[in-house]
Amino acid sequence: MKKIRIAIVGATGLVGRTALKVLEEKNLPVDEYVLFASSKSAGKKLRFMGRDYIVQELNDLSFDSGFDYAIFSAGGSTSKKYAPIAVSKGCIVVDNSSAFRMDTDVPLVVPEVNPEEIVNNHGIIANPNCSTIQAVVPLKPLDDKYKIKRIVYSTYQAVSGAGKKGVIDLDNGIKNYLTDKSYDEDSGISFDYDIPNYQDNSNYNLEKFDYPIFSNCLPHIDVFLDNGYTKEEEKMINETRKILKRPDLKITATTVRIPVFNCHSESINVEFENDFELDELINTLKKSPGVIVQDDPKNLVYPLAINASGHDEVFVGRIRRDYSVKSGINFWVVADNIRKGAASNAIQIVEKLINK
Ligand code: A2P
Repeated sequence: MKKIRIAIVGATGLVGRTALKVLEEKNLPVDEYVLFASSKSAGKKLRFMGRDYIVQELNDLSFDSGFDYAIFSAGGSTSKKYAPIAVSKGCIVVDNSSAFRMDTDVPLVVPEVNPEEIVNNHGIIANPNCSTIQAVVPLKPLDDKYKIKRIVYSTYQAVSGAGKKGVIDLDNGIKNYLTDKSYDEDSGISFDYDIPNYQDNSNYNLEKFDYPIFSNCLPHIDVFLDNGYTKEEEKMINETRKILKRPDLKITATTVRIPVFNCHSESINVEFENDFELDELINTLKKSPGVIVQDDPKNLVYPLAINASGHDEVFVGRIRRDYSVKSGINFWVVADNIRKGAASNAIQIVEKLINK
């Protein structure tokens, strides 16, 4: 049998290291892995599959040795430069960046939603944006059954989605607050104010965000576009349309970074063309692949970021009728943005490629 070789590009990053963890859990029939990162990490050791792997610097010749698959999680510019080189050497790339997602000849795949697209690849398969993945997993079965007319997304996104530097900003913000001498060291509450209005980030430099993320919400993810939306919002709109194969679907989005380490939460408002029974709709979600319904609010059962962390499923709750329209619902969706939103989704795609 042919030996399978896989390259992990960006192996030292948050998504890359999570990919290693997921690969260990899945133990796919792979003969060899090679881990790549920037020159900064070359020579660094990463523990994987019970042994130490030496991280290699990614360069123009990295794919000459012949890889079957590569998982890229090293940002858009690295993907743009090196994914075409990998493909030219016969490797199929599953790319976590936004570099190729909207290219017409690049499938944008969530295995629970549109696995049939995988075979249409010309060497690159794009992994959607993390906030899009966890939205379309429950939206697809609802679209099939009730035909979606309009979606309103409001997201509450964790700092892990901004990479290592995002996590560092929140961590530094918390440490700075706890060590600030103008605050009561035991309770953390200011002597001067009943409600701490903590704004002081003068003791540390922000690595990622434009403003402190600790004790704050930033209505700004990725760059601003001329139309007033952010690129993250535009990604959610365009990628949802592409994955659901509904190019004219009405969608609007507001994406917000919040001081949570991991797992994105989303409020999704959906209007349908067709009528529905709420019980039947909830049962449809319960039977949908990759969805776990956690919906018993009176008993305090609803999806939470701290519970979703470390899981690959998408957790759905607070499912209720939107009484302001003829046929609509609101629901709350939480998923691990680094696992299902990136690493696990990419590995599920690789798994399907291996088993095809
Ligand atoms: P490195 O750790 O050597 O900088 P994150 O999003 O968590 O910050 O991780 C980004 C990942 O992408 C890291 O593994 C990082 O490696 C990698 N990376 C960034 N730039 C390059 C590059 N030019 N070539 C290869 N890997 C890169």
